[in-house]
Amino acid sequence: MNIDLLIHSASQLITCANPNGVKRRQAMSDVGLILDGAIAIDDGKIIAVGSTADIRADYTATETIDATDKVICPGFIDPHTHVVYGGDRVNEFEMRIKGATYMEIMAAGGGILNTMHATRSETMEQLMAESKPRLDTMLALGTTTIEVKSGYGLNTETELKMLQAIVALDEIHATDLVPTFLGGHAVPPEYKGQTDKYVDLVIEEMLPAVKEWHDNRSIKRMLDRQSKHGRSTLFCDVFCEHNVFDREQSKRMLQAGLDLGFPAKIHTDEFMSLGGVNLAVELGAVSADHLDVTPPDDVELLANSDTIGVILPAVNFNMGSTNFANARTMIDGGVALALSTDINPGSAPCPSMPLVMALACRYQRLLPSEAFNASTINAAHAIGLGDKVGSLEVGKQADVLVINTQDYRHVAYWFGDNLVEKVIKRGRII
Ligand code: NIG
Ligand code: FE
Repeated sequence: MNIDLLIHSASQLITCANPNGVKRRQAMSDVGLILDGAIAIDDGKIIAVGSTADIRADYTATETIDATDKVICPGFIDPHTHVVYGGDRVNEFEMRIKGATYMEIMAAGGGILNTMHATRSETMEQLMAESKPRLDTMLALGTTTIEVKSGYGLNTETELKMLQAIVALDEIHATDLVPTFLGGHAVPPEYKGQTDKYVDLVIEEMLPAVKEWHDNRSIKRMLDRQSKHGRSTLFCDVFCEHNVFDREQSKRMLQAGLDLGFPAKIHTDEFMSLGGVNLAVELGAVSADHLDVTPPDDVELLANSDTIGVILPAVNFNMGSTNFANARTMIDGGVALALSTDINPGSAPCPSMPLVMALACRYQRLLPSEAFNASTINAAHAIGLGDKVGSLEVGKQADVLVINTQDYRHVAYWFGDNLVEKVIKRGRII
């Protein structure tokens, strides 16, 4: 049979496959290694994965890539980002070097609110123009699917503008972008000291407006055959943290989102634990993210739930902190763990999943195999796309990397470089 694309003779092909959902415990160190591996791709989909001998016996291809001395692996999934934003915060980077903390800067009206001012002042087109080069960089570093949050608008108009920019970027960019509404990211200056009133605004005005926009977009997408995919998930997230939103306020916003059909995510336990993991499990959240100070009982709770733990070690690194999430205990205890950059202008100006893998291996004692599964299949599940992307399995979207090394472990071992040689997105060589 003749197909579109065949990649063969890879020293290693790693599938990261797991037909039964997320990987936990020992499964996290199994990357599905195939030596002298090959992959057959047609019409944007994976149609066969196996040894070079088997695949070449069954298929000829219009285009062939010889991956001798290279690794073939799934494209990386970045399941927690704030990559669409205005301005930058390099001044705050200097303030932190001189001793100010992230939360002090935020309490003084900077931090997220600094980016809010820049984001409010820009048009959707400006936001897109500033964000697109960051997506280009992420793609070159091997990231093929990206979750992107709003949360720098903090009023209805700008939150909608952000979501519109995210889905418009999804349409024009090779990466797939999955939108999340994060109206509960911070309390804007107009509501300073009136957090509950702001929570009411999120619930009574923002979420219904987002729902209306989202429904119209879904209908339009179904009718629009040019649209690259008809996917319709939109997540709802909050920042549950001391001096931001407490557990009750977080719960109100996430429950209101759930009532409108938006699955929940939560930023929790970054600096102080307010019971956010417990809330995530109670609400059946898709993921609980950060987890730097999660108490042992909550780790156990998470391990026994369907909620995926997303850890963000670039944040700790960027803060010059070694207070990393206790990921070793989490994996050993059975948490389904995913990795993410959290790329944003404040806590993690970092586009690189390979760097995040390198940090997780060093400071959180993940094996490179565990870092791979956390950056592919588990990360895909953390954004509800575990059946479409995140592994090299027949029927999945052909999002594939060719890496310039003979041993996949080098992706985490070697750092500060980019070993990604080719990115194949939906079967197309980028
Ligand atoms: O995931 N912690 C809260 N939110 C983001 C940071 C956003 C920002 O600093 O702009 C985070 O770290
Ligand atoms: Fe975040």
